[in-house]
Amino acid sequence: MTDEERFALIISVIGATRFTARDRRIPEGVAMSAGYTPGVPRLGVPALQSSDASMGITNPGYRPDDPGATALPASIVVGASFNPRLAREGGVVLGREARIRGFNAVLAGGINLARDPRNGRNFEYYSEDPYHSAVLGAEAVNGIQGQGVISTLKHFTLNCNETNRHWLDAIIDPAAHRESDLLAFQIAIERSRPGSIMSSYNKVNGDYASGNSHLLNEVLKGTWGYPGWVMSDWGATPSWEFALAGLDQESGANIDAMFWKSEPFTEPLRKAYEEGKFPRERLSEMVRRILRSMFAVGVDSWGSAPEVDMAAHNQIALETARQGIVLLKNDGALPLPSDRPLTIAVIGGHAQEGVPSGTGSGAVAPVGGYEAVIKIGGAGVMGGARNLFLFPSPPFGELQRLLPQAQLEFDPGITPAEAALLARRSDVVIAFGIRVEGEGFDSADLTLPWGQDAVIDAVADVNPNTIVVLETGNPASMPWRDKVQAIVQAWYPGQAGGQAIAEVLTGAVNPSGRLPVTFPASLTQTPRPDLPGLGTPWGTPTTIDYTEGAEIGYRWFAKTGAKPLYAFGHGLSYTSFGYRDLQVDGGETVTAAFTVTNTGDRKGADVPQVYLTSAPDGPRMRLLGFERVELEPGESRTVTVTADPRLLASFDTQAAQWHIAHGSHQIAVGKAADNLVLTAEARLTERLFGS
Ligand code: BGC
Repeated sequence: MTDEERFALIISVIGATRFTARDRRIPEGVAMSAGYTPGVPRLGVPALQSSDASMGITNPGYRPDDPGATALPASIVVGASFNPRLAREGGVVLGREARIRGFNAVLAGGINLARDPRNGRNFEYYSEDPYHSAVLGAEAVNGIQGQGVISTLKHFTLNCNETNRHWLDAIIDPAAHRESDLLAFQIAIERSRPGSIMSSYNKVNGDYASGNSHLLNEVLKGTWGYPGWVMSDWGATPSWEFALAGLDQESGANIDAMFWKSEPFTEPLRKAYEEGKFPRERLSEMVRRILRSMFAVGVDSWGSAPEVDMAAHNQIALETARQGIVLLKNDGALPLPSDRPLTIAVIGGHAQEGVPSGTGSGAVAPVGGYEAVIKIGGAGVMGGARNLFLFPSPPFGELQRLLPQAQLEFDPGITPAEAALLARRSDVVIAFGIRVEGEGFDSADLTLPWGQDAVIDAVADVNPNTIVVLETGNPASMPWRDKVQAIVQAWYPGQAGGQAIAEVLTGAVNPSGRLPVTFPASLTQTPRPDLPGLGTPWGTPTTIDYTEGAEIGYRWFAKTGAKPLYAFGHGLSYTSFGYRDLQVDGGETVTAAFTVTNTGDRKGADVPQVYLTSAPDGPRMRLLGFERVELEPGESRTVTVTADPRLLASFDTQAAQWHIAHGSHQIAVGKAADNLVLTAEARLTERLFGS
């Protein structure tokens, strides 16, 4: 390989965007996308072409003739399904739809932990728990790479807020980092061997993640032995020296030119090479890592393109939404009876048009296009990408189809008084609450925008049979919670979301989603009631000290004793489940076996969760495992969970190993982090292990 060929491989360029013209390095006839890197035809190395893919193959204006892709539910919905099989099936959808477009790398696998309920991108991630995020993220990657398409895991690491993300310094205690966000990456890498890791925009403990030698050279490549390549996020490479700190590829070099006024891995890096500041061995290593992953995943040996059955892909989108919608509260209003001529007021949320999507680089244009795109706007480079996108799957129409005897009427929910007029003369009210969340923005608080809380409040005042459906990526504050009969968390449910919502409301589907994030009663309960940097102009240097360390979400609530609105793991069903016969073995790790029974009269699925609640040195809350079990009425199943021992350990930075303390560990099986049903003790042997 010549040096010219080597240097060409270590950058990618983005296609035409709002800020960049089609880059001259993308050859005529090659489809544009998020990233293009030329291949080396004489050596059989194909070009790398990457697409965003958090929720489907995206097309932010690059390919006018693209027929549209399957818009899967947001990753938080997959998280709420607690179903690794669905994560894998979604990955297969991504892999296949990438391949037919010629994309051999997808920028999927977002596994940042939900540390803050204001983070605009939490919908693109799975949960607040490292093990849960790792299991689901890994299965998505396995689904993708099984199709011969490289996947990333991203964003490495601690891009847990969007506020001033390019100037954000995320501070964390190193041991706590290993027990949280880094553990999610470590386990997900072990389970899925992703071809690439995308480093994040922010700094971690003072150094940019993309140029963080400790994280990239020491932890990722050194301690963990990760053999693939590290690509930067787009516009996250301000300096050529990041190549010395472990970054193997500069992504979207033309975005760096815009942000930082140079493309560090082109001219500046060549100059450093000529001056002997950038060693040839390192250049070779960067290239070797890229080629290794291309060959390991098999992008050099593609046969003919796979058959893509869009109807089957729609089924996967639908099934994911069905399993990820969470019934938060039900005082008996749900399921809606289908055999009565009810009058139903459907209020707000554009429920007559469709369901919303999260915004940013992951937003997917579905087959046939959006039902509507309502411009929102905002500061910074992502402002222009901030829209209310509606997928054409209207809950209103789907409800009417499933409830032919009912009479449905719609009110847009634009004023409380007007909505109350319809609510007052209806038997039942279904009020929708939506929020636009997305890349580049954190929410200022947890209220619903556009006065929707006041509308819900007003309709609940005049009609006690009010059901609320929330389509948000993060928790809402729900000031009207005690006034309504039922609350359904539908998230951003994807292109078949309206159907899934209607099926859950009518009981055609028995809800089985569980919260993958804690819903706080108020921001004052969270580690950062005030978010540093929020409200400062775009570009303001910002420091967020993640003082909660590894005690994120449910762990934080266990530690502080605060009572959330709804706990991690919570989710109701139209049937009921009982747990019995917990048996726990100790020694090197914990194995817990117990029996789950469907004690109600409907078929349904439960997600029992196994937790560590205390270790010899005090209280310590850790999710050790979970399993989604489908049960017929009266049916029982034995569930066995063996914990990854790292979940029982603390990270000892002195020894650079995991440490399990000797003695009594309390184990619980629960329906949620705050609803523990069975408890037992496990005695563990002290040991230092792993790295
Ligand atoms: C996002 C990444 C994405 C990249 C390429 C960035 O703005 O943070 O998640 O993969 O753009 O579109």
